Amino acid sequence: MQSELVVVANRLPVDRVTMSDGTSGWRKSPGGLVSALEPVLRRQDGVWVGWPGGTESGLEPFEDDGLHLVPVSLSAQEVEEFYEGFANATLWPLYHDVVAKPEFHREWWDSYQSINRRFAQRCAEVAAEGGTVWVQDYQLQLVPAMLRELRPDLRIGFYLHIPFPPSELFQQLPWRRQILEGLLGADLVGFQTPAAAQNFVRLVRQRVGHRTQRSQVHLPDGRTVHAAAYPISIDYAGFEELARSESVNQRAKEIRQMLGDPAKIFLGVDRLDYTKGIYARLRAYGELVREGEIDVEDSVFIQVAVPSREQVEQYRLLRDEIDRLVGRLNGDLGQIGRPAIAYLHSSYPREEMAAMYRAADVMVVTPYRDGMNLVAKEYVACRFEDDGALVLSEFAGAAEELRQAWLVNPYDLNGMKSAFLEAFRASPKERSRRMRAMRRQVSRNDVAAWAARFLTDLADVGAGRGHDLNGA
Ligand code: G6P
Repeated sequence: MQSELVVVANRLPVDRVTMSDGTSGWRKSPGGLVSALEPVLRRQDGVWVGWPGGTESGLEPFEDDGLHLVPVSLSAQEVEEFYEGFANATLWPLYHDVVAKPEFHREWWDSYQSINRRFAQRCAEVAAEGGTVWVQDYQLQLVPAMLRELRPDLRIGFYLHIPFPPSELFQQLPWRRQILEGLLGADLVGFQTPAAAQNFVRLVRQRVGHRTQRSQVHLPDGRTVHAAAYPISIDYAGFEELARSESVNQRAKEIRQMLGDPAKIFLGVDRLDYTKGIYARLRAYGELVREGEIDVEDSVFIQVAVPSREQVEQYRLLRDEIDRLVGRLNGDLGQIGRPAIAYLHSSYPREEMAAMYRAADVMVVTPYRDGMNLVAKEYVACRFEDDGALVLSEFAGAAEELRQAWLVNPYDLNGMKSAFLEAFRASPKERSRRMRAMRRQVSRNDVAAWAARFLTDLADVGAGRGHDLNGA
C-alpha cells in the first residue's frame, strides 16, 4: 500500500491498552496532536505512521474506524530511552522554558537517532512516488533529513506542536546542530507562533551558518526551506454539534446536580503535566475560598487531570504534589457533600468533555508555557449560547488569538486570583461580548483551515513557488 499523503507522528491516534480481563484493545491516544490531526486525516484519506503505545512488536498495518494506520514498534528499552528519556525528559522541558530541568544523556540521544531512522524508513516504504509526508512534533525532528536522503522525490513538511525555544535555551542542547539540520530536511517547517518560527530561523543562521532571509533559509545545495507560523485549531463544527446534542446537555445537567447544583463551576482540563500550571491554579482557588471570596456552598472547581507519561520521574512527583494539595484543600475547606476541588485523575471521551464544558461557568487554562492549548478552543466551541468565561495564560499559544479571555500570568498568584474573581463576577453582558468574539475567531480558523493552509503552502514551496510566507 502506497499513499499520496503520509502523516507521521510519534503516536498513532489509538493506543494499545490491556483490559482488566487480560485481552488487548485500542483507546484514543491522549493529547492535542491527535485531537487535531484525526479529523484532518479522515478527510484526506492518507495513512498515519506512528507508535501504537506499549512494547508489542510485529503489529501489521490495520484500519481503525476508517483510518489507515501503520504501526512502528518500540522495545521496552527504546520506550525508556527515546520516548521517556530524550523526547520527554530532554526536549519537552527544554522547549517549555525549562519549567523542569532537562536531562542530557548520550545514550538517549543515540536512541533518538535510531528511532527517528526507523520512522523515516517506514515512511519511505509507504509514501507514493512524488507524494507528501507530513512529519509531526518534537519526537521526530531528525525524520525530515533522514527521509529526504532515502526519498528525494518526496515533498516533506514538518510541524512542531510545542513551543520552539529562544536561542539562549536551545543552545544548551549538546546536539543542537543535528536537530536543526534534521528539520532542514523539510521543505516547510511550521510552528504555532511567529516568534517560534523566528527563533528557528535565527538559530539556523547562528548555528548552521546558512543564509536566511525572513521566512526562508537558503541551503548551499540551492534548496530553500521555509519556516512560518500555522496556529493549530480544533474541529469547531464537530464540537459545537456535540455541545448542542440532547444527550450532552442532559449529561451537563446531571454533572451539575451531582455536585449539588452549585451556582458556579470552575473547570480545568489538562494532561497531568508540570507545564500546565495545575498546582498554582488550585492554590490560587484555595486561597480565594479560604479568604471567603468564594464559598464552597455555591462553587466548586472540577480539575480533570489526564494521566500522562507516568514512568517519567517529574510526572510522578507532580502527581504526588497535586494529590497532597487537593487532599489538603478538601480537608481544610470542604464540607460534607461539598468539596472545594472535585479532582478526577482519568481520561474521558469527547462527549463527556463536551458535557463538562457545557456545565462549566469559568474555564481555567493556566500553563507556564504551552504550544497552543486546544482545551481553550474546545471550551469556546461548546459555548454556543455565548456564555461562560475563559481565564487563559499569556504563555499559551492560544492567547495570541483569544485576546478576549481574562489573560493571566500564571507565575503571579495574586493576579490569577483577581482574574478568577473578575471572570466569576463578570456580568452576563460582558461574558457574552467576550465569548462572541472568541467564537468568531475559532470558527473562522478551525483545524481544516489550518491543515489546508499548511498543505497548500507545502505544495507551493515544493513546486518552487516559494513566496515569502507569513510569520518570520
Ligand atoms: C502533546 C504533544 C504530542 C503528544 C501529546 C501526548 O500534545 O505535542 O506530541 O502526543 O502531548 O503526550 P504523549 O507523551 O502521551 O504522546
